This record gives sequence, C-alpha cells and structure tokens, in this order.
Amino acid sequence: MKMKRPSGFLKGTFKHVVVMVIGLCFIYIIKLSFDSEDCDMTRIHYVKTAHVKKTQKFAEKVLQAPCRPSFVKKEMSRLFGEKYNINTSSFIRKDINAHEDIFKYEPPFGFHKFSEKLKDLLELLPEYDLPEGLQSKHCKHCVVVGNGGVLHGLELGYVLNQFDIVIRLNSAPVQGYTDDVGNKTTIRMTYPEGAPLSQHEYYPDSLFVAVLFKSVDFGWIQAVVKNETLPLWMRLFFWKQVAEKIPVMPKQFRILNPAIIKETALDILEYPEPRPKFWGWDKNIPTIGVTAIVLATHLCDEVSLAGFGYDLSQPNTPLHYYDNLCMAAMNEQTMHNVTTETKFLQKLIKEGVVKDLSGGIFCTYCKKSS
Ligand SMILES: *[C@@H]1O[C@H](CO)[C@@H](O)[C@H](O)[C@H]1NC(C)=O
Ligand SMILES: *[C@@H]1O[C@H](CO)[C@@H](O)[C@H](O)[C@H]1NC(C)=O
Ligand SMILES: *[C@@H]1O[C@H](CO)[C@@H](O)[C@H](O)[C@H]1NC(C)=O
Ligand SMILES: *[C@@H]1O[C@H](CO)[C@@H](O)[C@H](O)[C@H]1NC(C)=O
Repeated sequence: MKMKRPSGFLKGTFKHVVVMVIGLCFIYIIKLSFDSEDCDMTRIHYVKTAHVKKTQKFAEKVLQAPCRPSFVKKEMSRLFGEKYNINTSSFIRKDINAHEDIFKYEPPFGFHKFSEKLKDLLELLPEYDLPEGLQSKHCKHCVVVGNGGVLHGLELGYVLNQFDIVIRLNSAPVQGYTDDVGNKTTIRMTYPEGAPLSQHEYYPDSLFVAVLFKSVDFGWIQAVVKNETLPLWMRLFFWKQVAEKIPVMPKQFRILNPAIIKETALDILEYPEPRPKFWGWDKNIPTIGVTAIVLATHLCDEVSLAGFGYDLSQPNTPLHYYDNLCMAAMNEQTMHNVTTETKFLQKLIKEGVVKDLSGGIFCTYCKKSS
C-alpha cells in the first residue's frame, strides 16, 4: 500500500512530463514549419517564363559583346578618380614590404600588428596571381555571382559557365543549383566561417581566396593550407562551425589584399575611418559581395554581376537562392550599410561600368516590351 502513493504520484508527474514534452515538440514543429515556410523558395517565389527568357537573352547578349581590355578599370577611375587605385594588387604577394600601407589599418582594412603572422603564412603559399592560363589572357570578362534569391528560377547557369572567371562568395552552393548558378567556379572568396563545409563544393583547379578578419583566421588558413587538423581551442574562436579541410593544393590559395577592403569601405563607399577600440562593428564593413566586385574590377577587364540586389522594401522575399532566410534578416545585421552599398551598385549599373545580369540592382532590360 505504501508503495502505491509514490508510484501514483510518479505516474501523475510522468503524465505531466509527457504532456509537456509533447507540447514542446508540437511548438517546435510549428516553429520549424513556420520558419521553413517563411521564405521557402518553392512556395512563394516563382518567376514568369517571359521574364526568364528576357533575362537569358540579355545575359547572352552581354556575354557575346566583344571584351574591351582595361575597360572596367578606366571606368572606375573615371567615376572615383584618385579614390580608386588602378595599381592595387588583388592578392597579397610574397614581396610585400613591411612599410606598405596595409600595415596602417587593423583587419579587415589592413594587417596592422600581423606582419609576422603574414610572413609565416606567405611562406606556405607559392603563388599570388591568377593561374598562368588566365593571367595571360588578353581580355577577361568576369562574373561575380552574388547569393541573392533573385537568381532562383532564372536558369542563368549555362550563361554563367561561359565567363572567363566565375567568382563565388562564402558558402554559396553549386551542388543542386546548377541550373540557376552554373557549375564553374574559378574563385571562391570567403572568410573562414563562410567556407563551404561540403568538400564537393571545391574544385581542384579553382582558387580559394581567404578574407582574414581576426587573429585566429591566420591560424585557420595555415592549418587548412598545410592540411592539418585544427586545434580544438582554435574552433572556439569562430562564431560557427568552420570547414576543417579544403581539398585544394597550396598553389590554389590566395589571401585577399586588405587594401581592397579598405579601398571599398573608406575610399569608394566613403565610410568614416575605423574607430580605435570600438567594440563590435560600426556598419562600416563592406559585404563580401561588394568587396568581390571591387576585387573583380582589379582582376578583370569587364565585369558582370548576377544574384545581386537587396530589396529591403520586400521583407518577405527570399534573401538567398539556397536557404529559407527572408530579406528581413538584412535589417537585423549590424555590420553592413545596405543603403550605401545599394546606391553604389546602382551607380555602377546606370553608368554602364558593370552589367547586372539578373536585374536585382537596376534592371536595364525589364521595361522593354511588357
Ligand atoms: C600605377 O603604376 C604605374 C606604372 O608603374 C605608374 O606609372 C602610375 O603612376 C601608378 N598609378 C598610381 C595611381 O599609383
Ligand atoms: C559542369 O557540368 C557539365 C555538364 O553536366 C559537366 O560536363 C562539367 O564537367 C561540369 N563542370 C564542373 C567544373 O563540375
Ligand atoms: C589531406 O589529408 C588527407 C588525410 O588526412 C588526405 O586524404 C588528403 O589527400 C590531403 N589533401 C591534400 C590536398 O593534400
Ligand atoms: C549608412 O550610410 C549613410 C551615408 O551614406 C548614413 O546616412 C546612414 O546613417 C548609414 N546607415 C546606418 C544604419 O549606419
């Protein structure tokens, strides 16, 4: 008899726990399905066939136009004068001089206090230009593929594959999205946390361009180039899981010249000088997308864009072509000034400096007919 009460009591508690767990599961499932329905491409985003055709036709026309040597550099100089330095090298070179400007600013605008770490790192990297075959090409037409949801359904993959250089950003996947984004990757440019976790996203002959923001990023890139296991302590310093293995050879790695980020932020976008000892970010860090565009102007003769354009007035449209994030997420971040970047991109398109193949920034081909 004595045993009955506790077991009855336990039974009651057990029931409560079961009900609570079921309840929590239920809430979780609702939350999951709510989240995934939020900006699920297949449900809310479809593109009219006529628009797809028009977009593809425009992209083909841009691709077929003759490539004009040095065109984009001349245009950038025309628009930005001395603020754009035509001679900035894209990647860090081994012969870098300790007195160069890049040691004036802290990352990501420079490598102030990192000259020793940089020296060690450069010992591991045998090359710092484009691969021979591309470098020697008389005129290079590049496309920077942004990660924007606007790419979904446009089926531009076959056009993007035909550019001389295809630049992809962060974790943007190719596998499963080739109809829209193609499968050629000449350059993948990312910071450690953005590097794809799947080994299938790396091609043996594409370049991996590392964007270094903080001290531990130097340790990460060293380990990755040497194909060594990351020390446990190092993983704690990243804000998300980082790729442990990047299956490309050391001659495929490059370090983005931070002068490109400095030029983008302080000279072209005219953000205020970074404040010393500021905790967090000041909305003065250019997105990797805009940085990649400025990089492309230095690397290439002509530049086209696809998958660019954040339309903040459409908070419920998909942010990326590959996940369920909504545009609204861009309003929550505190690093980037989207308004300023959008103005800059619109200027580049309207002035004809670069072409916007997917029309998300400023659609030059949309109005014609319909
Ligand atoms: C770029 O390099 C060329 C050749 O070395 C030089 O004549 C020119 O003055 C440089 N321009 C700038 C803006 O540094
Ligand atoms: C891209 O896809 C085409 C057609 O499926 C294939 O022939 C080619 O090898 C692929 N390229 C890469 C780099 O995977
Ligand atoms: C990296 O190391 C693994 C073994 O841990 C090996 O299978 C792989 O081939 C190496 N990759 C490169 C690029 O050397
Ligand atoms: C973005 O930059 C513009 C100047 O270009 C400034 O007026 C605005 O306040 C900035 N926005 C944020 C959120 O910092």
